[in-house]
Amino acid sequence: MLGTKIGFDLGTTTIAANVDGKGIKINEPSVIVYDCFEEKVKAIGKEAYKMLGKTPDYLTAIRPIIDGDIYDYGALEQMLCYFIQKICGNRILKPSIIACVPSETNEIDKKTVTDLLISSGAARACVIEEPLAAALGAGVSIKNPEGVLIVDIGGGTTDIAVVTRGCIANSSSVGIAGNAFDEDICRFARRERDTVIGSITAEKVKKQVGAAKFLDAELAVRAVGKDYITKLPKSIELTSTDIFLCIREHLEKIVESIKLLLSGTQPELVADIAKNGMIITGGGANIRGIDDYFRTKFGFNVKCAESPELCVANGLGVLLDDIKVLEENGYVFRSYADMNDFEE
Ligand SMILES: Nc1ncnc2c1ncn2[C@@H]1O[C@H](COP(=O)(O)OP(=O)(O)OP(=O)(O)O)[C@@H](O)[C@H]1O
Ligand SMILES: [Mg+2]
Repeated sequence: MLGTKIGFDLGTTTIAANVDGKGIKINEPSVIVYDCFEEKVKAIGKEAYKMLGKTPDYLTAIRPIIDGDIYDYGALEQMLCYFIQKICGNRILKPSIIACVPSETNEIDKKTVTDLLISSGAARACVIEEPLAAALGAGVSIKNPEGVLIVDIGGGTTDIAVVTRGCIANSSSVGIAGNAFDEDICRFARRERDTVIGSITAEKVKKQVGAAKFLDAELAVRAVGKDYITKLPKSIELTSTDIFLCIREHLEKIVESIKLLLSGTQPELVADIAKNGMIITGGGANIRGIDDYFRTKFGFNVKCAESPELCVANGLGVLLDDIKVLEENGYVFRSYADMNDFEE
């Protein structure tokens, strides 16, 4: 395969790109800001994220991916064109691209995403399921014959999958992940401290003191919002215990979803999982004590992957190094010509 090879993790909160032989070259918020007066793109990625929640009337901030699904194709195409240009410059040969999609994506939607990658500048493109890439990024071999349970807690969705021999044996996706925890924190601040805080502040609090258990040494941080009654600025203290208590209900729902998936999984694979345990990936795996939380719920071994938010992009990198394995496992690259053939 000639030309640059790129793996894109198209996430609800972050877009990451792994470039063959060069590693992660893009890791930016999935946000684009439009200038409605001048009808043009004002900012993409990191610059656009800085404007979230602070845009004047003439600017609109869009997150093109919501809960793992593409919500604004035009906006995502503009972002991808920008990132591809950033990686490839003016090289004549167009890149080959692998991107990930949520595990439950049907064949029509997979084709739509592939076509979007081609219209954004790929010579050929292929999509694979996100938890499969996450498993590879967490160090699971594509040839591993045993069942592995992967729980990818992202921004919009938690993808749960049993992976074996480089394939998804069973999977489900639940719309509870990092963004839902941020909303929990906003609700808690309003209800318990009479203070309205923004979702960006809530996310910062979650990263600074977020926990999925009672910590031996409680952490605390101050957050600034506005008083619910007087509407004036107000600073409040939030602790790791507060965060655990307010996200606990949502964590419980993720546990229920995992149990449901295991109940519909073949007994031999469940036996493998009982032996090998579960791996947590995605940015949500950074919450303090989340491995202990799941361990107490299931009794089997639970491990948080290293750099969990980069597992999907790193897994795509593993495939870029060995595209043949991907094709052997039934994944097919489509090109612009295939796109047109299909439509005739
Ligand atoms: N240190 C941290 N503590 C708690 N949460 C974190 C931390 N770092 C990142 N996160 C959360 O992880 C989430 C982003 O994770 P990730 O990049 O895996 O999501 P995504 O791939 O963009 O989303 P999705 O897979 O749902 O489409 C955000 O909600 C972010 O707040
Ligand atoms: Mg993700």
